[in-house]
Amino acid sequence: MDIGSFIEYRLEISRADASPVRVLQDATGSAKCGVGSTVWDAGLVLAKYLDWQTSTGSLNLAGKTVLELGSGTGLVGITLARLQPDCCVMLSDKEELLPLLERNIALNGLQTNLSAICLDWCVPEHCSNVSFTPDIILVSDGIWIKDLHKPLADTLARLSNTDTRVLLAYETRKFDEEAKFIALWSERFRFRDIKPQEQHPVMQSEDIFLFDGSPRR
Ligand SMILES: C[S@@+](CC[C@H](N)C(=O)[O-])C[C@H]1O[C@@H](n2cnc3c(N)ncnc32)[C@H](O)[C@@H]1O
Repeated sequence: MDIGSFIEYRLEISRADASPVRVLQDATGSAKCGVGSTVWDAGLVLAKYLDWQTSTGSLNLAGKTVLELGSGTGLVGITLARLQPDCCVMLSDKEELLPLLERNIALNGLQTNLSAICLDWCVPEHCSNVSFTPDIILVSDGIWIKDLHKPLADTLARLSNTDTRVLLAYETRKFDEEAKFIALWSERFRFRDIKPQEQHPVMQSEDIFLFDGSPRR
């Protein structure tokens, strides 16, 4: 992958000893690996939610296994791995994003708790690339195309057990279509919206929704 024209995004995190999280973005689209090669705003809000919740002690993911779906640049999952070195984070996306994910993992130094795999929601067999049942699944801006709603909902169901917690963020663009995803998701999951007062005080937006869900028992 030629990263000559890539630009770096840095996200400050609140761990006292921590340098910013760094990810490269393909701002010009030269690498042709699709929409995931830049950071999306819902990802920023979810990453800062994780930062805020872990720094206040409200969320402790020590020892947990975490899977991110549709990682893109990997900003969200890498942020969590940096915040909680004692949890195990697996990033995932389509094949074409893997070189960027690997590159961005390396950019953040030696992270033994971080890896990346190919997981296309439209290929059910790819779920077997995940060798564990995740305690947490992260998804940011994964429902911007309605054709992906069912594959994503099916993937979430396939990879979860009743103890799995899904943290899902999206920016609202087409309310009616998003409502259909929520209806589809609610057939197999129960969830609540994460209130603005639980989110990072600054890095939040009235256009970006966060949900905290689990499969129905
Ligand atoms: C809008 S981007 C969001 C990227 C990242 N989560 C963020 O918030 O910056 C959507 C992501 O979903 C991924 N994606 C699209 N179709 C997918 C599929 N069928 N299976 C897995 N990931 C997919 C894209 O490659 C991209 O990384």
